[in-house]
Order: sequence, then structure tokens, then C-alpha cells
Amino acid sequence: MKNAHLGDLAVSRIGLGAMTMAGTYTTGGPLDDSESIRTIHRALDLGVTHIDTAEVYGPFHSEELVGRAVKGRRDEVVIATKFGLVQHHGDTQSFATDSSPSNIRAAVEGSLRRLDTDHIDLYYQHRVDPSTPIEETAGAVADLIAEGKVRHFGLSEAAPDTIRRAHAVQPVSALQTEYSLWTRDVEAEILPLLRELGIGFVPYSPLGHGLLTGQIRSVDDFGDDDWRRTNPRFTGDNFRRNLALVDEVTAIGAEIGATPAQTALAWLLTRGDDIAPIPGTRRLARVEENTAAADVELTTDQVQRLESLEPAAGDRHDEANMATIDR
Ligand SMILES: NC(=O)c1ccc[n+]([C@@H]2O[C@H](COP(=O)([O-])OP(=O)(O)OC[C@H]3O[C@@H](n4cnc5c(N)ncnc54)[C@H](OP(=O)(O)O)[C@@H]3O)[C@@H](O)[C@H]2O)c1
Repeated sequence: MKNAHLGDLAVSRIGLGAMTMAGTYTTGGPLDDSESIRTIHRALDLGVTHIDTAEVYGPFHSEELVGRAVKGRRDEVVIATKFGLVQHHGDTQSFATDSSPSNIRAAVEGSLRRLDTDHIDLYYQHRVDPSTPIEETAGAVADLIAEGKVRHFGLSEAAPDTIRRAHAVQPVSALQTEYSLWTRDVEAEILPLLRELGIGFVPYSPLGHGLLTGQIRSVDDFGDDDWRRTNPRFTGDNFRRNLALVDEVTAIGAEIGATPAQTALAWLLTRGDDIAPIPGTRRLARVEENTAAADVELTTDQVQRLESLEPAAGDRHDEANMATIDR
């Protein structure tokens, strides 16, 4: 598979998100660690070299699975993980935004242990911490890079001013923020800034939390406690309008024998070779489907039609989650 470039870090154009392996979405039956590990192995066999996790996924379970899966194959893969949503107090943890240098120092040791590695290739701040100046966070990551524990620095959901300030202290390799056919906010200001600074971009939820796969048609398709049931884009009239968007994606992909998931990913790949989406799945068959999007060639006309689709209806997160986003 061809590479994308996140600053000077090369990763496969299609990566793998390991969040659902720890159960963030509850639809689709109980977790199956063996299948998750087979999924990661299959991804590596197919040329995926970029696996994305975070200490908060589970918490900790996703990192443990990634660590188990890449044992013996560590050199084949760029491991990206994230700090800043778990607060460490000695042997106990709580959930709060905390990117203070002392918390990062505690977090990195746990991530290294669970991932069973001596270095993290790409270490992201998961959410900007309003209580810690970004310069202090960037400085703490710079120290970890100097010590060899971390290779590259990333930010997630950071606003332009935060990106500039962090980058001035420790060059940022990648920004990870939601981006897909139904979430295109980053195109206005963020992507031009990243290109000015030479920072790569990792679109999270590139399949619209699963909607762009065409497999979700009703709120009844979700498990009772699935978080998406209360997401504004999956409720009421917004949901009906967003399903119409998926139908158009499905129809365009069908012209070239591509599934809707492949069409959505192939469209992201047309945005540039500094863009490396991380579709999330815990299922082997789906990792095969998603990875094959690297070979899907959309025509110019298809790209234009995808470009001109109506934007999604509804906020991309509920109010509480939107409040955690740096703007
Ligand atoms: N930085 C951040 O704040 C942030 C936030 C969210 C996510 N992320 C990262 O981004 C990654 C991807 O995001 P995401 O998981 O939220 O959303 P996504 O990739 O847009 O969609 C994942 C959902 O779609 C399903 N799915 C995947 N491929 C499919 C296919 N081919 N056919 C049918 N269903 C399919 C998955 O179910 P199964 O797993 O059951 O297959 C899962 O429910 C995560 O794993 C995580 O690493 C980061």
C-alpha cells in the first residue's frame, strides 16, 4: 500500500482504529479479543502500518490488545496512542482532562507497559486541557522525545492557535480530528494551516461512526446502551436526512463496484497524501473491506458529485462532548 506522510512520519494511507475493540460502541455483540487480534494481524498482512489507540479506550484494554497483537511484529507498525483524558494518582485513575507534565509522565509509563514496547511512535494529546498551557504539554512531550520514549508529537481536536503554539515548542507531526464526507469543518481553516506548517492530518471516524458504511438504517440497529443513540446526527429528522446522504454515497460507489465504506475512504484519500484515515473496526472481514479502499479509483466526476453532497444534519457530538473541543 502507498504511504501517507504525517510530517516526516510515513504511514500506510489506510490505518486501523482500535477503539471499538475496547467497546466504545456496543452494537454488534460482545467483545471478542481473539477476533480483535486477528483483525490487527490481518491489517498488518494487508500492508496497514498505522494503528491508532488511546489509554482511555476501555480504559486501557485497547492498548493491551494492540500490544499483544504486534508482539514479534513491532517493527512493521507505527503505534499511535493518546494521553490526557485519564488522570493518574499513584495507582488509581479517574477520568478528567489533564495534560499537565506530571500526568503525562505517569501516562506514558502505563502506555509503554501495556503496548509492550520501549517507544511510542506517535503520542497525541487527546483533548486540549484548558488548565494547562499547551506550551507546558508540548515541553513535556519534547522531554519524552529526547529520552527516546516517544518519536512524534500529535494533537487531537486542537484549534488553530493551539496548533501554532504547540508547534513552536515541539514540532507537531499530526493533528487527529473528525473528518469524513459528513464532517468537513476542517477544510476551511485547519487543513490550510496544517499545510502551511507541514503537519499531517489523521481523520478520525472517517466512516461517520459507522453510518457511511450503509449498514445502519435505523436507531434500532444500535445496542440499547450504544452511545450513538443520543448523538444528534442519529436522532429524529437529522437521521432521516443523513440516511439520504448515505444512499447517494452508496449509489456513486456502486458504479465502480465499491462499497459505501470504501467510497467514503477513497474520497478522503483524494484529499492529499498528507491525509491518513483510521477507519475503526474489530472485525476481520471489515478490515479487509476498508483496507481495499486504498485501491479504489474514483473518477473526477464521482469526486465532484461526492464533494457537492449536502452536509450532514446535526452537530457531530452532543453538547457535553462538543464542550470538550478546543475552538
Ligand atoms: N481523537 C479522537 O478524539 C477520536 C475520536 C473517535 C475515534 N477516534 C479514532 O478513530 C478511529 C475510527 O473512528 P470510529 O471508530 O469512531 O468511527 P468510524 O471508523 O467512522 O466507524 C466505526 C464504526 O463502523 C463500523 N464499521 C467499520 N467498518 C465497517 C464496514 N466495512 N462495514 C460495516 N461497519 C463497519 C465499526 O463497527 P465494528 O467495530 O463492530 O466493525 C464501528 O461501529 C477509532 O478507532 C479511534 O482510533 C479518535
